[in-house]
Amino acid sequence: MFLLSADDVLIDLLTDSGTGAMSTHQWAAIMEGDESYAGSKSFDHFKESIQEIFGYRHVIPTHQGRAAERILFHVTCKKGDVVPNNTHFDTTRANLEFVGAEALDLPIAEGKQPSLEHPFKGNMDVAALEQVIARVGRERVPLVMLTVTNNSGGGQPVSMGNVRQVSEVCRRHKIPFYFDACRFAENAYFIKLREKGYESKTPKQIAQEMFRHGDGCTMSAKKDGMANIGGFLCTNDDLLAQQQKDLLILTEGYPTYGGLAGRDLEAIAVGVQEALEEDYLRYRIASTSYLGTHIAQQGVPIVRPPGGHAVYLDARAFLPHIAPTQFPGVALAAELYLQGGIRSVEIGTLMFGAAAKMDLVRLAIPRRVYTQSHIDYVVEVILEVWNHRDQICGLKLEHEAPFLRHFTARLQPIRK
Ligand SMILES: Cc1ncc(COP(=O)(O)O)c(C=O)c1O
Repeated sequence: MFLLSADDVLIDLLTDSGTGAMSTHQWAAIMEGDESYAGSKSFDHFKESIQEIFGYRHVIPTHQGRAAERILFHVTCKKGDVVPNNTHFDTTRANLEFVGAEALDLPIAEGKQPSLEHPFKGNMDVAALEQVIARVGRERVPLVMLTVTNNSGGGQPVSMGNVRQVSEVCRRHKIPFYFDACRFAENAYFIKLREKGYESKTPKQIAQEMFRHGDGCTMSAKKDGMANIGGFLCTNDDLLAQQQKDLLILTEGYPTYGGLAGRDLEAIAVGVQEALEEDYLRYRIASTSYLGTHIAQQGVPIVRPPGGHAVYLDARAFLPHIAPTQFPGVALAAELYLQGGIRSVEIGTLMFGAAAKMDLVRLAIPRRVYTQSHIDYVVEVILEVWNHRDQICGLKLEHEAPFLRHFTARLQPIRK
């Protein structure tokens, strides 16, 4: 899917990362971009806006989320360490493995069953976290992460109750607790909709409360930053922040721009606030749910309930005649493209190898881009593919890179 030219794609649901449409307010802010190398006004706007929501002492801009991850792991992790998460995204897993640490997924049992309904399938298994700390020892756990919403686990939210419990375990063991905060606004909105006691709070108040339980975060501003590029790293630890900024200068840029232009900082400053607007969030969550509900009603197996930024097809249930070793997710994604020009992405055996617990096809909805009639077309194509699913065959790998192989892999159909 990554090898396709975008011109040959009709509806592009490959990712919601950096593919959103910026608002008039963001474009206006871009015009105010201060491109001073050091100490620009745009950095002040960026920092103030982020601190109002996230509340952390240090805000370090980076060009993407993965740059924040690389810097965080480089200064906190070493070979033999173990970093638990509800589910690591591919870039956090790869960056941890790159420094020799183990990326450990601890989703709750409900999170591993695609067809099961549960309001907070993104939650971490807190008892399993306690067991891991007891088993490997506190000194081998340099930090714990929680991904909100849990992208690789189906875009499912994490409850405030779970955030509080994970935070309590971390505080008791004096382990820093970081959020992978890419979709923090969607997570906050799900808490408002589904968790008792939060009905009358604003998404911003919920996000602020959530971040107060942590010590920092990594963030890709290409998601709930509503920007086309950018990210940041936050921490409350002064010593760590100094080490992170030193590394940032070496690889990304000076700490008041971190590899971004002043205008990008302005777009993010406005974007993180817009992502928390309730009207926007209501429309976004409703449109994802519309797609999920319409295909599920016809029997198409999806991860239930539909996630925040995407609908995930359960490829193992969709194509039970294709073994995980023959990449059912990739086969299904290829068929959606051949049938209807829809680009999606596999999250499964190709992405995670033997660590894959499910084979999913993610249909990620770019922010503020598609209308209901586009989504109606997607529903029609999926149902057409569903009706001839027994004719779809598995695939074998022809080329794979040593890490993050799904970005450049080439596969061949296994014809019977
Ligand atoms: C949960 C999660 N973490 C981290 C990242 C990495 O962010 P970026 O693509 O900006 O490097 C992504 C991107 O999709 C993500 O979904």
